[in-house]
Amino acid sequence: MTTRRALIAANWKMNGSVELAQTMSSALSSLTVHSEILICPPVIFLANFPKNASYQLGGQNVSTEIQGAFTGEISADMLRESGATYTIVGHSERRALYGETDSVVLAKALRAVSAKLTPIICFGETLAERQQEKTFEVIAQHLDAVYAAHPELLAASVIAYEPIWAIGTGETASPEQAQAVHEFIRQHVAKYDANAAEKIRIIYGGSVNADNCQALFAKPDIDGALVGGASLKPAEFTAICLAARDK
Ligand code: PGA
Repeated sequence: MTTRRALIAANWKMNGSVELAQTMSSALSSLTVHSEILICPPVIFLANFPKNASYQLGGQNVSTEIQGAFTGEISADMLRESGATYTIVGHSERRALYGETDSVVLAKALRAVSAKLTPIICFGETLAERQQEKTFEVIAQHLDAVYAAHPELLAASVIAYEPIWAIGTGETASPEQAQAVHEFIRQHVAKYDANAAEKIRIIYGGSVNADNCQALFAKPDIDGALVGGASLKPAEFTAICLAARDK
C-alpha cells in the first residue's frame, strides 16, 4: 500500500510583506506536523524566509525559457537558487489573465523538472462547464495535454484540482464533489502509469479554510490543499497544516 504524504501549500498570490514572511516563518517553526508544508510567496520574499526544516519554499510561476532577454520573467534555476523546491504551474489566474495555454503549462512543468523543482500543476473547470456537466471531460482534456506526451511527469509532479468557481469566492466544492473529481483524475492518469497514479499527490484548492479542511482531508483521494486567502493568516494556516493526514 502506497503512502502519500499530505502536502499543504500556501499560495500568497500578489499579497504579503517582509513582516508576514517573518511571522509565518516563526508560526510554522514551532509546529510539529508530519505533513509537508510549502509556502509560495511572491518571489521577492523568498529570501525573507530563513532556511528552515519545517517548511519548503516555492514559486507561483516559472518561465518557459532558460535565460536571456525575457524582461520580468524568473527562470526555474533562479527559483531553485533562491531556495525553492517547488513551483505552481498553470494556476487558473495565469491561464485566465495571462493567456497560459496547456502547451505553455506543459513547457513550464518540464522546465521546472529539469531544474529539480516539483511542479504543482493546476487544473479546474469553470462554473459554466460544471453546470453543463462537462467537468470530467474538461479535466480529462487538460490532463491529456500535459501527461499524454510526458507520462514521466506523473512521478515528478503534484496535481492541484482547483474548480475555478471556488477560487477566492468563499464557495468550496463539497468534500463529495471534490473527492469525485480527485478519484476521476487518479483513474484517468492511471491509463498512462498505474503505479505513478497511485503515488501522485492530488491536492484540492478553492476557498479552503480552517473550518472546511477536515472534511476535505478525510476523503481518500484528497492529499492536501492549495490554500489562497487563508494562507495569509498564520493562525488559520497552521490550523489547516495540523488537520492534514497522510494517505
Ligand atoms: P483561495 O485560492 O483559497 O483564496 O480560494 C486558492 C488558489 O487560488 O490557489
